[in-house]
Amino acid sequence: MQIDKQSPVPIYFQIMEQLKTQIKNGELKADALLPSEREYAEQFGISRMTVRQALSNLVNEGFLYRQKGRGTFVSKLKMEQPLQGLTSFTEDMRSRGMKPGSRLAEYQLIQATEELSSILGCGHQATLHKIIRVRLANDIPMAIEASYIPFDKAGKLDASHFQSSMYEHIEAYNQMPISRAKQELEPGAASEEEAELLGIQPGAPVLYIKRTTYLQDGTAFEHVKSAYRGDRYTFVHYMDRVK
Ligand code: GLP
Repeated sequence: MQIDKQSPVPIYFQIMEQLKTQIKNGELKADALLPSEREYAEQFGISRMTVRQALSNLVNEGFLYRQKGRGTFVSKLKMEQPLQGLTSFTEDMRSRGMKPGSRLAEYQLIQATEELSSILGCGHQATLHKIIRVRLANDIPMAIEASYIPFDKAGKLDASHFQSSMYEHIEAYNQMPISRAKQELEPGAASEEEAELLGIQPGAPVLYIKRTTYLQDGTAFEHVKSAYRGDRYTFVHYMDRVK
């Protein structure tokens, strides 16, 4: 790492950019322990405050994590997401020991369009919840989910529902387990709006996933259009050989 003290670019920012590059190109491996603030400060002849600012920003952006009394470590940038097995976002994050979260971007009651009513098998002009949430892992944006849920499958929803697991609510409300889903995956580039919500650059790679999910009685309760961050996810599918 090299610091240019004459540069108009602030030193903390130079440190951040170089560490990010090293993390992205694999020079710094996941779970590697970083030198301490004092070591960095001595190495570059800068103040510990400057080093702390750079490292704290990288913790906030999800590139690094801290462990009390042990130091600062490199985060695993990409999460492996199995494609089989129908799970909720909340379950996925908890199984990784991460804190699931949501930020509500939009909510309204709408009338089903022809397309949505045929996908969801609900009557024309049935009332749907339209819920757009940014899904967070340890407070870092991972995906945007725009879900359409027939009103009669979820009842009245309020802020507390948007902050917690929708699958849990749906199963409790319908007193029936969720059983299966159909999913379509398509690569894309983040629009200005998506980039803003996900904290990435416009045009950065995203994976669009459409999912229609059904209850045990075969009725659909949700159609979701989501955008997953390409820099944070690797989708994994296990296959058996067929001839
Ligand atoms: C996954 C699915 C979404 C679904 C969500 C529910 O992320 N791709 O279609 O809406 O899980 O998650 P939760 O129960 O945490 O709200």
